Amino acid sequence: MSGDDIRRELERGNFSREVLTAALAITNENEFMPIFELSESICEAYYGKSVFIRGIIEFTNRCRKNCRYCGIRRENGTVERYRLTEDEVLSAVDRLVREDIHTVVLQGGEDPASDDHLIDLIRSIRERYDMAVTLSVGERPFDVYERMRHAGADRFLLRIETTDPVLFSELHPDDDLAYRKHCLTSLKELWYEVGSGIMVGLPGQTIESIVNDLFYFMDLRPDMIGIGPFLPHKDTPLGDEKPRELFLTLKVMALIRITLRDVNIPATTAMGTLSSDGRIKAMRYGANVFMPNYTPSTYRGKYLLYDNKICVNEDCTNACAVAAIHAAGKVFAPGKGGRHRTPELNPALE
Ligand code: 5AD
Ligand code: SF4
Repeated sequence: MSGDDIRRELERGNFSREVLTAALAITNENEFMPIFELSESICEAYYGKSVFIRGIIEFTNRCRKNCRYCGIRRENGTVERYRLTEDEVLSAVDRLVREDIHTVVLQGGEDPASDDHLIDLIRSIRERYDMAVTLSVGERPFDVYERMRHAGADRFLLRIETTDPVLFSELHPDDDLAYRKHCLTSLKELWYEVGSGIMVGLPGQTIESIVNDLFYFMDLRPDMIGIGPFLPHKDTPLGDEKPRELFLTLKVMALIRITLRDVNIPATTAMGTLSSDGRIKAMRYGANVFMPNYTPSTYRGKYLLYDNKICVNEDCTNACAVAAIHAAGKVFAPGKGGRHRTPELNPALE
């Protein structure tokens, strides 16, 4: 099947294994272009040229887990561990607000000792500011997710990373795929806006397993999906692996846009690390969210999930994010940027 043939099938809603596999198997960017164009046209139908900005604050790099790909895994003794104080987080949030950004993403390792601290932080942010609070802090028991929700958290990002059971267990010595799925269901039950996602190009990952990931997302129907390339970190067991090219990541992202339509999709930092124009290409081909790093600069170099992470030495500003958004031919959309549900454009979802 040519790129044009595949686009026609996707346009008429044929998301079969055969069509998705054929799309992912395309090796030439020009051949895939009709599919990228379809992805972008669906993105525009919901979001126009708008891109939402969310500021990320990496508030703790302590983690009880040992995911084999991750630079802040428990057994990486070279990492100097930190947990930001409430004052440090609030002053970073204050900067966001002054720069007209109204969503904060509090991201951290699985630092269970920080649960109460995090709940206090959520409350303090919601008391002081009119902004959406997104959490990205991994697996927690239901009652902790519930307390966080009651404290005022609106959204939660928890990537499934891969739905391939063998690969999942090889990569996650502490985790269980069924429990990760259960966590995502719990978050939906608690009426969080839920984000998930995968890494693309993991050692041992096949096209077939990525197609299964796409089916899983069609079933889960999250509100946001973040796709990033796997990138090695030198002090991890996967430190000698080579990352795959950006193209595969962008193909997966475009197929997510086409199959899930109005979902929020970020141009991820890992895409920008793999290739200098990675995030710009992502915003041209269907991404509608940009997430600059607002972690205080003294801590940024201590939150390295992979090598050569961008925006560690620079101070991220709204102006920098807006320049990237303009380079992609898009515009900064102020506001909280919740999921745009437009039922008349997507009757299957409502
Ligand atoms: N390469 C790319 N992404 C990574 N993440 C963690 N380690 C790596 C890596 N080595 C991603 C995971 C996690 C998110 C916060 O960062 O997908 O969910
Ligand atoms: Fe911890 Fe998350 Fe890294 Fe796994 S991916 S080691 S849970 S910070």
